[in-house]
Amino acid sequence: MKQHYSMATLLAVTLLFGLTGCETPTEPEVDNATLNQKKITLGKALFNDKNLSLNRTMACATCHQTGSAMIDPRGTAAVGASLGDDDFSRSDRNAPTAAYAKFSPSFYFDSGEGLYMGGQFHDGSAKDLKAQAKGPFLNPVEMMMPSASAVIDRIKENNETVAALKSIYGDTVFDDDDKAYDAVADSIALFETSDVFSPFNSRYDRFLAGDEELTPLEIEGLALFEGKAMCSACHPSTTDDGSRALLTDFSYDNLGVPVNHALRQANGLGDGYIDNGLGAREEINDPALNGAFKVATLRNIAVTGPYMHNGLFKDLKTVVHFYNTRDTGGINPETNSSWEAAEVDATKNVAELGDLGLTDAEEDALVAFMKTLTDKQYEPLIPAE
Ligand code: HEC
Ligand code: HEC
Repeated sequence: MKQHYSMATLLAVTLLFGLTGCETPTEPEVDNATLNQKKITLGKALFNDKNLSLNRTMACATCHQTGSAMIDPRGTAAVGASLGDDDFSRSDRNAPTAAYAKFSPSFYFDSGEGLYMGGQFHDGSAKDLKAQAKGPFLNPVEMMMPSASAVIDRIKENNETVAALKSIYGDTVFDDDDKAYDAVADSIALFETSDVFSPFNSRYDRFLAGDEELTPLEIEGLALFEGKAMCSACHPSTTDDGSRALLTDFSYDNLGVPVNHALRQANGLGDGYIDNGLGAREEINDPALNGAFKVATLRNIAVTGPYMHNGLFKDLKTVVHFYNTRDTGGINPETNSSWEAAEVDATKNVAELGDLGLTDAEEDALVAFMKTLTDKQYEPLIPAE
C-alpha cells in the first residue's frame, strides 16, 4: 500500500521523535488507520455511484446491496444472472454475495494439495479484491464503460471525489488515468474489507461463542453437515485456529450442475454454449479442471439465492436434494423432472456427492442449520416455509 505524507508531517514527526530520543518510526499506526478510514469512506461513495456506468443507472451496489446481504435483490435476477446497465444484457453467472469476500486468499496454486485456491469471481479470474474492482466498470454486460479513462472522466465530474482521491493518493493521482483507476479500485477494495461486509453476527456465530442455543433440528442439521452429508469437507463449519467459520475452503470443484436453460435463453448464449469455469481460464487451460467453480461461502446462504454459479436453483432445499440424489434418479422439485445431465460431465465430482442417502427429514435439518448462518440484520429476509 502506497502512503503519502506531507513534508510538514514528516518534519513534525522527525522533530518530535528527535527530541524524545526515539527513532523515527517508518509506519506510524495512527496515520495508517486514518488513511484506511478515508479510503473506506471514499470506497463506499464509489461503490454506490451510478454515474460510473454508461447510462448512469447502475453502481456496484445495484448487484451487491448492503440491505440484501450484498447480492442483487432485483426480481430480474431470479432467472440466474443480473441485468446490465442497458437493462437488457445479462452475463451467464449469478452475482455472488460480496460479503466475506475479503477472506478469500489471493489466487494461488497450492502445490502440496495440488489445488488452485482463492481469488475472486466464480472462476477466481481476479486475484484479489482490488483486481476484481477493476472489472465490472468495463464489463460489456455490467456497467459497460468503454475504458478506464472513460471511468476517470466520470470521476472528474464530481469535485468531492476528486478532492478525496487527491488527499489520499497524492496530487499527482490524476496525472495518468491508469494510476487514478488503480486508486479507485484500491479504495473500493478497502471498503469491502470494512465490517459492514463481514458482521459475523449470525445465530451460528452466537452459538459458537456460547451465547445462544440452536434448536434440536438445527443441531441435527449441523451434525449431518459435518458427518453423513460431508458438507464441511468443502464448507468447513469450524476452524483449527479459533478464527470464525467462513463455510468455504476456497478450493474449486465441479459439482455437475446442469445448464440453466432459462438463463441461456435470456442472455442469448443458447444451450450449446459451455461454461468451463476454472479450466477454461487462458493461463490455466487444463481440461481436468473444466466445470470447476469456487466453493461458495454459505454465510447468509438462506437469503442469497438463486444458487450455484449459474443461478439454476431457486430453493435451498433443492440444492440439498441435488447433492443427495444427483446420481440416484432424483427429481428436481423445481421442474418435477429428473435432474438433467451435468453441463460438464467428464470431470464432475462423483466421490463426495450425488448419492448421500439422506432422508427427506434430514434434508430439512440441513436447511434449518444453514438458516442459522444468516447475519442478524438479514434474518427478516429468510423466506417463510
Ligand atoms: C450487473 C451486476 C453486477 C455489478 C454492477 C457488479 N457486480 Fe460484482 N459480481 C457480479 C457477478 C455476476 C459476479 C460473478 C462473476 C463471475 O464469477 O464471473 C460478481 C462478483 C463479484 C465479487 C466476487 C465475489 C466472489 O465471491 O468471488 C466481488 C467482490 C464483486 N463482484 C464486487 C463488485 C464491485 C466492487 C463492483 C463495482 C465495481 C461490482 N461487483 C459490480 C455482478 C455484478
Ligand atoms: C466437494 C466439495 C463440496 C461439498 C462436499 C459440498 N459442496 Fe456445496 N459447493 C461446492 C462448490 C464448488 C460450490 C459452487 C458450485 C457452483 O457454483 O457451481 C458449492 C455451492 C453450494 C451452495 C450454493 C452457494 C451459492 O451461493 O450459490 C450451497 C447452498 C451448498 N454448496 C451447500 C452444500 C451442502 C448443504 C453440502 C452438503 C450436503 C455441500 N454444499 C457439500 C463444493 C462442495
